[in-house]
Amino acid sequence: MFFMLCVVFHLIINKNYASAQSCKSFNNVNMLLYDRIGQKFYQDINGCVTRTVFGNTTVVKAFTKDQIIPKLGKDSIRHMKYLTMVSFRNCNVEEIEQTAFRNVPSLATVEISFGKLRAVPKGVFNFDLTPQLEAVKLDHNRINFIEDESFFNISSLKNVQLNNNLLERWRSEWFQNSTALEVINLAFNNLKEIPSRAFTSFTSLKDIRLDHNDISKVQRDAFKGVRTLDYLGLSHNKLTSLSDSSFPNTLRINYFRINANYLTFLSNDVLKKLAAVEISMNYNPWTCPCLERINYWLYIKNGRIKSDDKCSRSHIPVCVVPNNTETCTDEFDREAMLKYVNIIKTINMSDPVSANCMTFK
Ligand SMILES: *[C@@H]1O[C@H](CO)[C@@H](O)[C@H](O)[C@H]1NC(C)=O
Ligand SMILES: *[C@@H]1O[C@H](CO)[C@@H](O)[C@H](O)[C@H]1NC(C)=O
Ligand SMILES: *[C@@H]1O[C@H](CO)[C@@H](O)[C@H](O)[C@H]1NC(C)=O
Ligand SMILES: *[C@@H]1O[C@H](CO)[C@@H](O)[C@H](O)[C@H]1NC(C)=O
Ligand SMILES: *[C@@H]1O[C@H](CO)[C@@H](O)[C@H](O)[C@H]1NC(C)=O
Repeated sequence: MFFMLCVVFHLIINKNYASAQSCKSFNNVNMLLYDRIGQKFYQDINGCVTRTVFGNTTVVKAFTKDQIIPKLGKDSIRHMKYLTMVSFRNCNVEEIEQTAFRNVPSLATVEISFGKLRAVPKGVFNFDLTPQLEAVKLDHNRINFIEDESFFNISSLKNVQLNNNLLERWRSEWFQNSTALEVINLAFNNLKEIPSRAFTSFTSLKDIRLDHNDISKVQRDAFKGVRTLDYLGLSHNKLTSLSDSSFPNTLRINYFRINANYLTFLSNDVLKKLAAVEISMNYNPWTCPCLERINYWLYIKNGRIKSDDKCSRSHIPVCVVPNNTETCTDEFDREAMLKYVNIIKTINMSDPVSANCMTFK
């Protein structure tokens, strides 16, 4: 009997300890909340966000801005059956723990942005915990690590914003079994390459943003399985060439951005596979014969050049004349690039071009 009491006592202590531990995420955090009929109200939250905190009001959206929340611990948001959206913007979030969200069957949008988040662990987003998740916005943080299967088996997940972080590589394993992805935004990270079969599992992909990274290599079969895209952004990277082996036999892109790289040519084999309705390609050291080839490709495939207003300057050369040949050779032309850089430098003295327009420093 005594033993049993001890066990019960022990269990109670453990339980209390556990809930106290797991309900410490919010310390006088002011939240803007919306109820089911769209009425908004503010409430200061201590502990965690859970149904009982709101009395009879059913909260469907919760927004938190400019508050201090160092850690989104276990059970931060729980038992919120009708919650569809939760947002933490500029809240100094550094860490998110497994099971931060629990029993949130309607949760469709999670935003933790403009914070200090360093890693995404497995066990925060998946079919069991966030079965209706459609959009995850983790942009403007310091994320340099995402565990494989961090977004596991969520068939509703469509939109992932991971831009403005410190990621050095892309792994499709982050999204294991979440194959309905439509938008992947990885712009403004430190990606070095696009690996083989990077997007093959995602058959509904429409929008891939890889602009403003350090990409110098696009591996063989990188875009295998991708057929049509609204947007493919590779601008502001360190590409010296694109190989036809990276692309499927046909890839149609509505808006293709490859401006601000080190490209001097696109091979016939690449152009044969690609079709772009609009292309941004300025601030590359194209050789003039190769640019002519691209213009012909645009002409026969009904594409057009789209220029970025902030960067378009009439005195910036669109191409340089290579000194060794008058035809387009299918290899990176280092001389041409150096020539281009020199021209840009001279121009800069008289009428500076914003450094944001190009990759060259
Ligand atoms: C909740 O609603 C019940 C009955 O509708 C009412 O008696 C009670 O006071 C309400 N509680 C709060 C916290 O508003
Ligand atoms: C994956 O999600 C489906 C529902 O979309 C579910 O039926 C299945 O059990 C899940 N599988 C795993 C391994 O979690
Ligand atoms: C889910 O992933 C597991 C491996 O993690 C795999 O064996 C299984 O076939 C996948 N299920 C679906 C529906 O994709
Ligand atoms: C091309 O011109 C540069 C100087 O602009 C020179 O250094 C280089 O040797 C030339 N290359 C060839 C292949 O003629
Ligand atoms: C162009 O000039 C500006 C100052 O006018 C300078 O800050 C910038 O670094 C220069 N850019 C290049 C590419 O030389």
